[in-house]
Amino acid sequence: MLVIHTQQELAEQIAEWRHHDEHIALVPTMGSLHAGHLSLVELAREHAERVIVSIFVNPTQFGESEDFDDYPRSLERDQRRLKTTATDMIFAPDVETLYPFGPDKATTVSVPGLTENFCGATRPGHFDGVTTVVARLFAIVQPDVAVFGQKDYQQQLVIRRMTADLSLPVTIITGETVRDDDGLALSSRNSYLSDEERAIAPALYASLQSVGQQLQAGGREFAELEAAAIEKLNNAGFKVDYFAIRRALNLEVPDRDCDDLVVLVAAQLGPARLIDNIVVTI
Ligand code: PAJ
Repeated sequence: MLVIHTQQELAEQIAEWRHHDEHIALVPTMGSLHAGHLSLVELAREHAERVIVSIFVNPTQFGESEDFDDYPRSLERDQRRLKTTATDMIFAPDVETLYPFGPDKATTVSVPGLTENFCGATRPGHFDGVTTVVARLFAIVQPDVAVFGQKDYQQQLVIRRMTADLSLPVTIITGETVRDDDGLALSSRNSYLSDEERAIAPALYASLQSVGQQLQAGGREFAELEAAAIEKLNNAGFKVDYFAIRRALNLEVPDRDCDDLVVLVAAQLGPARLIDNIVVTI
């Protein structure tokens, strides 16, 4: 497994793989890798002979009061974890490689519409940072395939839209959410939770499942289902940011007869902002 930091070395290695007609899959990450990230690597390998995992804590997607400085960074540990997977290369660029004119002066890619609600509303500028860095990674790596997690449902929709809108020659694949045994979706931010908060955290997924079951059973009073779930989570110790039943395709408010739904939640639990979702196909 190669560990590469510069665009030059990356280009040389990619040229060699291309010379052998090998396809390239990219798994963009911010490191602090867990089994969820590793599952994306295995999925990537099903779609390409070569897998590149990028590790870059992207400054432009963090708000000023957010956890950019505190975000866990552990390249050595990540390297050890990825050695056990199908990863051919870790690409760990520095800020200057991805933002040659500086993050503040970066040409920005912005997807309107889809980014206005939910995490886009709570974290202004967040998705511009995500699309800006992913567009750069696509330009530098030129992958055939890129893999993202369903865990960040809105993010993968936004990236799909960007890719389609700019006709980028990259196929976007979405991998399922990997969870702990008690249902909590794995996240680098789970490490912020105290033992007490960690014990409460599985209620988030439980609330999604409960609403999912009610939808499957014919429940269509979406606003009531949302309000009941929010009250329950707030009583359990969360501060719910949003809990919403939406069209899976585009996050629009669904009609009663819509049968492809997604239930999305974001909530603060102590120091951690947790997000999760489930797709409900009726
Ligand atoms: P990061 O939070 O490191 O996540 C990297 C990828 O792993 C994302 O596609 C995310 O959806 C996926 N992922 C996270 N938790 C997962 C889980 N429990 N199961 C399966 N997949 C999971 O998302 C980002 O980084 C950044 O925004 C990035 C796209 C790299 C741009 O900077």
